[in-house]
Amino acid sequence: MHKPTSTNSRDWTQIYSIYGMEQWHTLLFLIFQAILFSIWSILFLLYFQPICQFLDTFFLFTETNSTGGGSAARFAAGFTGCVTALSAVCLFFAAGNFFYSAVGLRYEMAQRIVSCVNDWSNVKVALDIGCGRGILLNTVATQLKKTGSSGRVVGLDRSKRTTLSTLRTANMEGVGEYVTCREGDVRSLPFGDNYFDVVVSATFVHTVGKEYGHRTVEAAAERMRVLGEMVRVLKPGGVGVVWDLLHVPEYVRRLQELKLEDIRVSERVTAFMVSSHIVSFRKPSQHILGTVWGDEADPDALLKTYTYDVVV
Ligand SMILES: C[S@@+](CC[C@H](N)C(=O)[O-])C[C@H]1O[C@@H](n2cnc3c(N)ncnc32)[C@H](O)[C@@H]1O
Repeated sequence: MHKPTSTNSRDWTQIYSIYGMEQWHTLLFLIFQAILFSIWSILFLLYFQPICQFLDTFFLFTETNSTGGGSAARFAAGFTGCVTALSAVCLFFAAGNFFYSAVGLRYEMAQRIVSCVNDWSNVKVALDIGCGRGILLNTVATQLKKTGSSGRVVGLDRSKRTTLSTLRTANMEGVGEYVTCREGDVRSLPFGDNYFDVVVSATFVHTVGKEYGHRTVEAAAERMRVLGEMVRVLKPGGVGVVWDLLHVPEYVRRLQELKLEDIRVSERVTAFMVSSHIVSFRKPSQHILGTVWGDEADPDALLKTYTYDVVV
């Protein structure tokens, strides 16, 4: 499902030169840890005998009259050295996966998200929530440009600084005229009901409410509120596409509860060292009204109960 087209492939250096990397501190942390563990494992290799002798005195001390102190010390030193070396390899792998996810994969997934919408020529207004520096936003804009559409795409982000850099990246991509940026909170989108033909989002929804802790009911309620807002601003017949990590089954359940149509889930893609999926759905032609999404709603109630009336 939603395979990327090879014509859209691009060198990662080009992608990096335009969008950079938002979570570089996480990458630096992983590389730092990987180097630290590598140094430890090299030290274990170079000073294996002295380490064994040191541990031997410890084992002789704890194992009175033991004849196996030497072998126990060698085992402990060897085991620790192996674990340290393995940790270093895993950390380098994690750093590589993180960098790939933040640059190359992000671009590839943006192409796939766009390919979830069958017909872009009829799209008048699209929305990218939590647009960041605009890698998905600009991919949507490029698609609108390609199809000769008169449509526009709006990028919403809560940070003014981010929206300014998003407009810069749109101009660098040559799609500035197709892009508008708006500051706002996704939990209460500053748009009327039934406004957008397409609403998209990439690696964003799981970050909403994380101040409560990922697994808390409050955080889940915040994520559900975001989905509700996405659905609210979609036109009947409009398409929503969400690429996200961690909570995709929860989104699918919620979309099913909301009686959205054509809910599709892509195969698993490892991104940022965890499973990720693209979920696409269509808002039914009937208009859904009266869903409880207000700030005053109890998080538990928001997760479990809601009301809606279908106007035929
Ligand atoms: C992880 S980045 C994802 C960026 C983009 N979707 C991408 O794939 O490159 C999350 C972005 O969402 C924005 N953001 C976080 N919470 C938000 C909220 N409640 N409302 C609107 N934007 C938010 C942040 O400022 C950040 O730019």
